[in-house]
Amino acid sequence: MASVVLKNVSKIYPPAEWAKIRKKDQASDLNASPQLSEKGFAAVTDFSLEIRDKEFIVLVGPSGCGKSTTLRMIAGLEEISGGELYIDDRLVNEIEPKDRDVAMVFQNYALYPHMTVYNNIAFALKKRIRSKAEIDRKVREAAEILGITEYLDRKPKSLSGGQRQRVAIGRAIVRNPKVMLMDEPLSNLDAKLRNQMREELLTLRNRIDTTFVYVTHDQTEAMTLGDRIVIMKDGFIQQVGTPQEVFENPANTFVAGFIGTPQMNFFDASLERDGQRYTVRMGNFHADVGEEAARKLAFNNVTGGDIILGVRPESITETEDEVSFSARVGVLELMGSSVHIHLEHNGKKAIMVTQVLGENGKLKMDYKPGSIMRFRFAREAMYLFDRQTGKNLEV
Ligand SMILES: Nc1ncnc2c1ncn2[C@@H]1O[C@H](COP(=O)(O)OP(=O)(O)OP(=O)(O)O)[C@@H](O)[C@H]1O
Ligand SMILES: [Mg+2]
Repeated sequence: MASVVLKNVSKIYPPAEWAKIRKKDQASDLNASPQLSEKGFAAVTDFSLEIRDKEFIVLVGPSGCGKSTTLRMIAGLEEISGGELYIDDRLVNEIEPKDRDVAMVFQNYALYPHMTVYNNIAFALKKRIRSKAEIDRKVREAAEILGITEYLDRKPKSLSGGQRQRVAIGRAIVRNPKVMLMDEPLSNLDAKLRNQMREELLTLRNRIDTTFVYVTHDQTEAMTLGDRIVIMKDGFIQQVGTPQEVFENPANTFVAGFIGTPQMNFFDASLERDGQRYTVRMGNFHADVGEEAARKLAFNNVTGGDIILGVRPESITETEDEVSFSARVGVLELMGSSVHIHLEHNGKKAIMVTQVLGENGKLKMDYKPGSIMRFRFAREAMYLFDRQTGKNLEV
């Protein structure tokens, strides 16, 4: 049980260290990177977050955005270049990893191959608990929670990926850590097992009283597991919020494109203001934004002009109406009861998702690749972003 507070935490890898890793990359890439200065490479910048006791926080973002670096700083495996880190109100910047009372689960399990499952789990306890009976009780309890009791005498090599990952988690939970850190623990598993383990993690968190910080690049994992999600890009936090908050009110086009699958469509459009009314235009399509949105836009002093219009794939529908935009139908991807329809509008690609399962249990699909069709969406489905900065104009 613990709160974790990060105040303007930053990590700069000094030039020498950084050059070693980046040697293979293209030089042009590096010069263009705003994260680079003569001090080195800014992997994490001004990371501030108050993680509450027993909260499940997920750090999510594309490869290289600084998720693992942040986690490793919390664990004490990486020195903090700037800012403060508190675990339960204690400043821990200079505290050794072993004295922070945190446990970490890695992507590649990191089990001892020559030890049985039992000993892998018991190993960390042997240093601090003398009583064999006590160790035995804890190991069996963890094994029970994770459903691996029958494998306790086996060696890791005779286990499946999912079973190994459970052992790795077992090894972390027996220590009863204040904070459980997990770095992409499910990414080595196949899709089906990943779904199953995701569900098990949800059950696990209800059984153990621990604060979780979980890293993934998978937005589905982030949405399903997190009490709150932290979306990162280039070492900066883009947004922090509950899954519903970041889905409904993305701070910018990056978050909007990252959360939700298939990803949100972005169209070039214009916004006109007439007093307290705002109208979005895109070709023949136009729509009044509605009262609530107009109030927010007016509050933000939005004057109108070129914008990016965001629309989720599920919100696009076919129409006969004149007030619509036309698009060419591209390939269709049948997913089962729904189909993903690729569209092209004004030279830009878009995607729409529609349900095709009829009441009779048969699929009903009358979209012809190559044809031009008309589409629209409800005003409530429109997200409006600044064309220059990508910021959500309503938040
Ligand atoms: N020891 C190091 N020295 C120099 N640069 C590093 C070092 N470790 C990481 N980096 C750089 O810092 C940035 C952030 O790395 P980090 O491992 O935190 O990313 P990540 O978000 O976990 O990515 P992934 O999803 O690929 O695991 C990357 O650009 C990486 O190349
Ligand atoms: Mg990582």
